[in-house]
Amino acid sequence: MEIITIEPNELLTIDGPASVRVIEGRFYVLGVDYGPGNAFTVMRGRRVVAKSLEKGKVEIIVGPEGNFEKVGKSSDEVIEIWERALSEVSLRNSVIVVLGAMDVGKTTITTILTNKGVKEGLKVGIIDGDPGQNDVGPPTTVSAAIANGFITHLTQLKALKSIFIETTSIEYVWNYALSSIVKLVDYLKTRHSVDFVIINTDGWISGPDAIKFKLGLVDQVGANYAIVIKRENEANELLSKLSEWGGKTIVLPSPPNARVRDRDDRKIRREMGYSKYIMPPRDLTINLRDKPIINLPLFRGLTYDRSMLNLIRRVLGPTMYIEQWGDVAVAIGNVKEFHMKTLSNVNIAVLPMNWERGLLVALEDRENYLLTLGVLKRIYYNTGKAVITVSRNFDRENEVSHIRLGMIRLNENFEEVEKVLYIGKLESMLQSQGIPIISK
Ligand SMILES: Nc1ncnc2c1ncn2[C@@H]1O[C@H](COP(=O)(O)OP(=O)(O)OP(=O)(O)O)[C@@H](O)[C@H]1O
Ligand SMILES: [Mg+2]
Repeated sequence: MEIITIEPNELLTIDGPASVRVIEGRFYVLGVDYGPGNAFTVMRGRRVVAKSLEKGKVEIIVGPEGNFEKVGKSSDEVIEIWERALSEVSLRNSVIVVLGAMDVGKTTITTILTNKGVKEGLKVGIIDGDPGQNDVGPPTTVSAAIANGFITHLTQLKALKSIFIETTSIEYVWNYALSSIVKLVDYLKTRHSVDFVIINTDGWISGPDAIKFKLGLVDQVGANYAIVIKRENEANELLSKLSEWGGKTIVLPSPPNARVRDRDDRKIRREMGYSKYIMPPRDLTINLRDKPIINLPLFRGLTYDRSMLNLIRRVLGPTMYIEQWGDVAVAIGNVKEFHMKTLSNVNIAVLPMNWERGLLVALEDRENYLLTLGVLKRIYYNTGKAVITVSRNFDRENEVSHIRLGMIRLNENFEEVEKVLYIGKLESMLQSQGIPIISK
C-alpha cells in the first residue's frame, strides 16, 4: 500500500490490478468525480487515467503486474479532449453507438458514458456488441445490462440478456449480430424503460461488409449519436459514409499510450471467459426430439430405410447416419473433412464422425435468448440424445427450448482449437430449403 500526494491537474496512470481510495481532494476518473472516502478498482490488464481536480492524497494498492505512475500536467491529454466532447452530448432519450478499430478505447468511452448517465440520475442501458471481447456477457455473445452505480469497467455489470451469435468472428454473422443488437435495444427500452442506451461495438470497421454492418447498426437501432474513435486513418471510410447519415457523428482521438492486446492475449482472455462460464462442469443430456438443434434440425427430417442406406453407402462409402430435408441431406461418414456430394438432385453435406465433439453450443429459451453456453460432447443417433457439458450452476433446464450450434471448437480445457465454418454452410443450405432456422 502506498499513499501519494498529487498536485491539482496532475494525471495519474494506473495499470490494473489496483485499487485506489481517495483520502483528500477530488479526482476525475472515467466520467466520475471521486471525493474523500470514495474508492475504485482497476481491473487486471486495464489502464485507467485519473486526473486530480485539486491538491489531494490517494491510497493505492497494486496487485501483481499492476502499476501506477504520475504523468505530470497536460492540457491536451486525451481524457480532457474526450471530456470536453462528451459533455456536449445530451444523454436522456439517446441511443449512442461507439465505433472504432481494435484497442482505440471503445470500451473506455462506453464506461465513461455509462457513468455520466448514472451521474445524471438516468436509467442507463448498456449493450456490449463485441462478441470477441465481451465484458458484459460471455464471448460469442452480444449482451445487455443496466448500470446500478458508477463503474470502472464493463465487467462490473451483470448481463440481463445475452444472445449467442455462434462465433467471435463477427464477419461471418454480422447480419445476425445486427438484428440481435437491435433486439436488445428494444428489450432494454420496452421491458426496462431505460432513459438512455449506449452500445459498444467490435473493432471490425474496414471493408464493404464492415461498413454496411456499422451503418445498418446506427440506422436500425435509431441512434442519434455515433462516436467514432479514430487512430490515424483507420476510420476514414466509415466516417465518409457516416457523413450521409442523419445523426450526429462525434470524432474522438484514441489514447496514444493505450495498453494494446495482441491476438494471443485476446484468445486467452476469451478462453478464460468460456471456462469461467462453464466451470465447474457437469454433463446434461438433452433429447433433441423435444429440444431440437435450431440450425441443424436432426431427427425432424426424413430418414432412410436399410435398402436406401445400402444404396447410399455404395456411393458415399461407410455412412453412419443420413437424414434429408427437401433437396438437402446431412450424412455422417468415415471421412476426414466436411464436403458436399450430389446424388440424384440431393445435395448431401458429408460430415466426419465426431464432427460434433467440442462444438460450442448455446441452450436458448423460446425467445432465442441465451440460457447458457455449453460444449457438445456427443450426439447419439439411435436415441436422438445429445450430451452437453454445462456449468453445475446452471439450473434453468426447464426453460430450454432449443440448442444452437456454434462455429467454434473447444478442447477439454476450453481452449479454442478450430473455427468450424461448415456450420455456417449447413445453415445456409438448410435455409435455402425453407427450413426455418435463424435469420441470417
Ligand atoms: N486515456 C487513456 N490513456 C491511456 N490508456 C488508456 C486511456 N483510456 C483507455 N486506455 C487503455 O487503452 C486500452 C484500450 O482501451 P479499450 O479497451 O477501451 O479499447 P477498445 O477499443 O474497447 O479495445 P478492444 O478492441 O479490445 O475492445 C485499455 O487497456 C484501456 O485501459
Ligand atoms: Mg472493447
